[in-house]
Amino acid sequence: MPYYFAKGRVNPMKRDLIDVTDLSVEEIDELIAVAEDIIEHPEDYREKCRYKKLATLFYEPSTRTRLSFESAMYELGGQVLGFSDATSSSATKGESVADTAKTVSCFADIIAMRHPKEGAPLVASMNASIPVINAGDGGHHHPTQTLTDLLTIKREKGRLDNLVIGCCGDLKFGRTVHSLIGAMSRYQNVKFVLISPDELRIPESVRTDLLERNGIEFVETTSLEEAMPQLDILYMTRVQRERFFNEDDYVRLKDSYILTPDKLNTAKWDLAILHPLPRVNEISIAIDSDPRACYFRQVLNGKFIRMALILKLLEVE
Ligand code: NCD
Repeated sequence: MPYYFAKGRVNPMKRDLIDVTDLSVEEIDELIAVAEDIIEHPEDYREKCRYKKLATLFYEPSTRTRLSFESAMYELGGQVLGFSDATSSSATKGESVADTAKTVSCFADIIAMRHPKEGAPLVASMNASIPVINAGDGGHHHPTQTLTDLLTIKREKGRLDNLVIGCCGDLKFGRTVHSLIGAMSRYQNVKFVLISPDELRIPESVRTDLLERNGIEFVETTSLEEAMPQLDILYMTRVQRERFFNEDDYVRLKDSYILTPDKLNTAKWDLAILHPLPRVNEISIAIDSDPRACYFRQVLNGKFIRMALILKLLEVE
């Protein structure tokens, strides 16, 4: 970090990724193109981030997101530091996110942060002198999962427009769905079928600010079976146990939807089934061998798109 920024000034030139709409559609398309080039020519990227460091600050559990960020940085020739458990950080001593962000700016070139409090990565970005990437904030947003989803949809379907997308499960607390709707609402002729129990319907803010304001066609239903025949994408999600106030409600709702092979009888032959993972019970393992199951290919795509994102935010040519 330049000494100037250590004097308490935030770098006005840096880019952060807090919400997926911080990126224009053109920038997202560019990231997808770079990710596809990385897939084709990984050897061209092996030294791109030599001597650069990524800090992963994870105040909430994670397997895929943290490891794919770390793997992405290593594949770019960079290095990684950070913590995967807030109890091993100074947060337990009462340090604020703002102070942690200022501190980590002295040690790294870019931060990926996951936090249970909505808005924490935004606070970090306002205090860090280096780019901050939101790796999931509470029930709010998860922009890099969405970039992963978009690359997956592009690779599986060959397009990001003219799609009927079914989002199924916990649409209330599921941050991946909120970000996915934010991103896909900007492509042409995309329709959403929002499948959830009444208690877990999409939040009012997503319905009004993203769907209605942008004139996006959508329907809400409780029936996965009724929705199935029209879907091009089925985006399954787990019920977000950690965001429930009451364990009884979680137990009552957790198995609302379980995708089993018989439910795919009415599905399109080229349906793409996505899931941000982790899966609990909502997709039977018998589906894994169906060519329409994309969720493990989706995990792999997450590494490539994060490589492209790190390059962009670090302004590496
Ligand atoms: C998701 C998350 O953390 O929001 N997982 C992920 O990052 N791939 C989905 C979830 O936890 O259900």
